[in-house]
Amino acid sequence: MAGASNTLIGEAPSSKLLQAMRAQPARKVIFDTDPGVDDAMALYYALAHPGIDVVGITTTFGNVLVAQATANALYLCALAGREISVAQGADKPLFKTAEDPPDFIHGADGLGNLPQRLPITRQADSRSAAQFIVDMARQSPGEITLVAVGPLGNLAAALQLAPELPTLVREVILMGGTVLEAGNVSPVAEANIWNDPHAADIVFTTGWTLTMVGLDVTHQVILPLALFRQIADQQQHPATDTLHHAVAFYSGFYSQHDAEVGRINGCYGHDVLAFVVLTNPELFTLQAGRVRVAVDGLAQGQTMMQRKNVSYPQQGWHEDIPHTQVCLAVQAQACRELITQTLQRPWLPKSEAH
Ligand code: BDR
Ligand code: CA
Repeated sequence: MAGASNTLIGEAPSSKLLQAMRAQPARKVIFDTDPGVDDAMALYYALAHPGIDVVGITTTFGNVLVAQATANALYLCALAGREISVAQGADKPLFKTAEDPPDFIHGADGLGNLPQRLPITRQADSRSAAQFIVDMARQSPGEITLVAVGPLGNLAAALQLAPELPTLVREVILMGGTVLEAGNVSPVAEANIWNDPHAADIVFTTGWTLTMVGLDVTHQVILPLALFRQIADQQQHPATDTLHHAVAFYSGFYSQHDAEVGRINGCYGHDVLAFVVLTNPELFTLQAGRVRVAVDGLAQGQTMMQRKNVSYPQQGWHEDIPHTQVCLAVQAQACRELITQTLQRPWLPKSEAH
């Protein structure tokens, strides 16, 4: 595993990384999320990045119950001064019994147990997440990228509403799964996929342009807590103060749990890498192959990838199963620099709270 280096703190950011997407119009994204600390990190990266236009947020159960995920998405947007539509979605898996939310990782409120919240007035969109995704895709055919960083029930429900959805969206990028790296909820399963394996298998076998950002790469990119302190000190804003508070709680879990992460008092950025692969694909090594999900038994939630182009006697791997682009390696230090320089851009409105 590549270790993070503290030399990042105070280093001048390399603007080349941030310029990669500037030549093109900003990419329209619907962010499907269960905020969640790394989800909050990902949202703020997307809002701060000039190459991304977040046109909507859809929420799901996962790190917290779905009502809390919706409240958190609205709150994070309000703190950042952004009026983005938030539509609430899946409150449970398609078939399996829901797992308890991991409050020991993200806090009971999903944002590291914030001591208080500023009042906000905006409400969620009245449509379901799935209906919102379908409406937006029909409104801008071929333009929307779905970035999904929680359990995948909203995407599965949207496909049920509109089976033609793959022809309407530009691409799908998901954070979830693992191929070679050990799982984080079992020896073989990653949390987002394990939380709704049936929905995940639908998403992997649908035939859209799909990229998987799993633990193979997210476990390579350790983000020091000091980086978020540096960003908060520089921005002097409630949004980045809140992010720092949340990451402090989350880093506490990872640093106790994993000696390598604990060495620098940090965390994995998981979800933010789903946006990094959108803005800077050159930082990743990808391999295309069929991915299927084990939906039950001891391997429940395992993402199995066909890495060799051979035909198998086992059912379920036939030629009609589409390929997924799977991230298998990443330039970790460049990702850390990019995340830092993006969150240090002047992306936040002036705040009266400071
Ligand atoms: C994934 O699970 C959630 O806890 C995180 O937000 C991330 O999406 C990592 O396994
Ligand atoms: Ca998440």
